[in-house]
Amino acid sequence: MSAPSRPTFTYLGHAAVRVDLPGGEVVLIDPFLEGNPKCPPGAAASLDRLDAILVTHGHGDHLGDSVALGKRFQPKVVGTFEVCAYLASKGVERTSGMNVGGSQDVCGMRVTQVQALHTSSIEEGGRLIYGGEATGFVVRVPGGFTFYHAGDTAIFLDMQLIAELYRPQLAFLPIGDHYTMDPSQAARACKLLEVRQVIPIHWGTFPVLSGTPAALQRELDRLGVNCEVVKLEPGEKY
Ligand code: NI
Ligand code: MN
Repeated sequence: MSAPSRPTFTYLGHAAVRVDLPGGEVVLIDPFLEGNPKCPPGAAASLDRLDAILVTHGHGDHLGDSVALGKRFQPKVVGTFEVCAYLASKGVERTSGMNVGGSQDVCGMRVTQVQALHTSSIEEGGRLIYGGEATGFVVRVPGGFTFYHAGDTAIFLDMQLIAELYRPQLAFLPIGDHYTMDPSQAARACKLLEVRQVIPIHWGTFPVLSGTPAALQRELDRLGVNCEVVKLEPGEKY
């Protein structure tokens, strides 16, 4: 049996990932483009279509440009009920709020919202608006290829259940430390998730995010976990 066909991923720096599906649809996960010091210049301006946005939680470095992009392209926008209610209040029309444990069809993908061990709020005018729970997404694309974008999270033992239920082959995991897992936790997360490949995210954007892909590789080697670290530079495709 050959490996299922997978989408093309483009890393846009921090936790932002562009997914190009075989049918031509364009999906952005955590579209922090404007103001993201690692986002390739012109990434937002050069978009010519956008079919869906997945938002893991309300923090500004993940919600990002969801309002502007949501108005410009009318993509389907997926996040928690609370994040989607916020976006709808800002004039984003095609929101599809959900919650952890649930799945929905997005551009032919099966998108499952899963827990994250983190917080969620939306900062506006010096106040924090409740953003529901922080989450991650497991995405099964047509043909069966399955990936996991963890958003911001600490390690949690229930990652074992994500492995058992969804069998993701690839994980986007935060490794920067301070706000999320560090490389040591992320290596153990790879073991719990039983993924064969990991793409490190949420590192190097700001000095405080000190975890590195090299440190993740060292931890994986030390633990004897057979998982390939795919280090992408911002703008790089995979
Ligand atoms: Ni966060
Ligand atoms: Mn973050």
